[in-house]
Amino acid sequence: MLNKQSIIGIVGSGAMGSGIAQVAATAGHPTIIFDTNDNALEKAKNNLINSLKKLVEKQKISEDKAQSILNLITFTGSMNDFKSCDLIIEAIIENIEVKKNVFKSLESIVSKECVLASNTSSLSITSIASACQKPERVVGIHFFNPATLMPLVEIIPGVATDHQLALDCKTLIDGWGKVTVMAKDTPGFIVNRVARPFYSEALRIYDEQMADIATIDWAMKEIGGFKMGPFELMDLIGHDVNYIVTETVWTQFYFDPRFKPSLTQKRLLEANFLGKKSNRGFYDYREGAVLTEAKKDETLGKYIVNRVLCMLINEACDTKYLGMASTNDIDLAMTKGVNYPKGLLKWADEKGLENVLNTLNELYEEYQEDRYRACVLLKQMVKQGKTFY
Ligand SMILES: NC(=O)c1ccc[n+]([C@@H]2O[C@H](COP(=O)([O-])OP(=O)(O)OC[C@H]3O[C@@H](n4cnc5c(N)ncnc54)[C@H](O)[C@@H]3O)[C@@H](O)[C@H]2O)c1
Repeated sequence: MLNKQSIIGIVGSGAMGSGIAQVAATAGHPTIIFDTNDNALEKAKNNLINSLKKLVEKQKISEDKAQSILNLITFTGSMNDFKSCDLIIEAIIENIEVKKNVFKSLESIVSKECVLASNTSSLSITSIASACQKPERVVGIHFFNPATLMPLVEIIPGVATDHQLALDCKTLIDGWGKVTVMAKDTPGFIVNRVARPFYSEALRIYDEQMADIATIDWAMKEIGGFKMGPFELMDLIGHDVNYIVTETVWTQFYFDPRFKPSLTQKRLLEANFLGKKSNRGFYDYREGAVLTEAKKDETLGKYIVNRVLCMLINEACDTKYLGMASTNDIDLAMTKGVNYPKGLLKWADEKGLENVLNTLNELYEEYQEDRYRACVLLKQMVKQGKTFY
């Protein structure tokens, strides 16, 4: 049974593993973080010390609390140190075979009751669990980056997962001050699936030369109310990460045209124009680079926002229609996981479901592409005059 005294193990001390370890230790858990790479462990330790120092400087935590968090975390190069763990969260490279091998090894070390979780963004929890003798103890616990700041955590039971065990994980992580949502084990879970059109429809509008990147970003922020425009956000996430997620979701949904990646983004990746981290992406971050000015045309701006938003809403509807998550969890996921100004299903109600359907039908009429097919649930709800809330 997981509780406040549970010992937490983390596999992988990279960006996510070290963040999750900090969150667990901040909640008072003895936390053991394991990595095969000594340099990565050293780096994680230094980052943790710096992160705690900053929190003390900002008076978010006391010096005593910072010290107690640090004391609770053990860094190790040996998986055997996981013997006493109650919950292990794996956060290593996104490779199914490597993850399966790690889960197999974990099972030979830990107790029979120990819960095994993966922080994977895109791989099947069911498939990872199949490497284990007790797949019922394997669950997805998906934090967002940076784990210390982003409130959302998706809890994903696989086909064989014990349902109560998934609920216990939810309760535990809620106790860490996070907002948890339950998601079915499907590609991209909730956030990484529902958010695809934010990028792909913006890319489509750009590829069709309807508007430039600065104008699309301006419209989504100023008119749409999003914190960042799609192109700024893709540059921040990095095209290596963002493009690969899109491609993975597309292939795992059997090449559904709704998720089709953009060649423009692929070329950026091939050119190593990864975004902010490489100083070039959609925007040029090098010193002296000239910024593109947005064309602040209200009519065009409203067209852009409406088109991207209706595609997002359509995806949220489909997620609901296929039972991948509840109405509430879909809206929570998008507001707490990617900072959307409103839940998409709530937004759909406000826009009027009929208006959303009309936009999608117009796009479908124009393009004759399956990409723009309206979700069956949306059509049914319009016919029946229903709303989500
Ligand atoms: N970075 C993100 O934005 C993000 C967000 C949510 C989820 N995720 C998921 O979290 C996981 C980790 O991502 P990350 O960005 O932290 O990666 P990362 O590359 O920063 O860190 C991975 C760490 O795992 C270690 N590692 C690799 N193989 C190992 C093994 N067999 N045993 C022990 N340690 C091993 C590496 O040395 C490295 O330190 C991935 O599954 C990723 O999909 C990433």
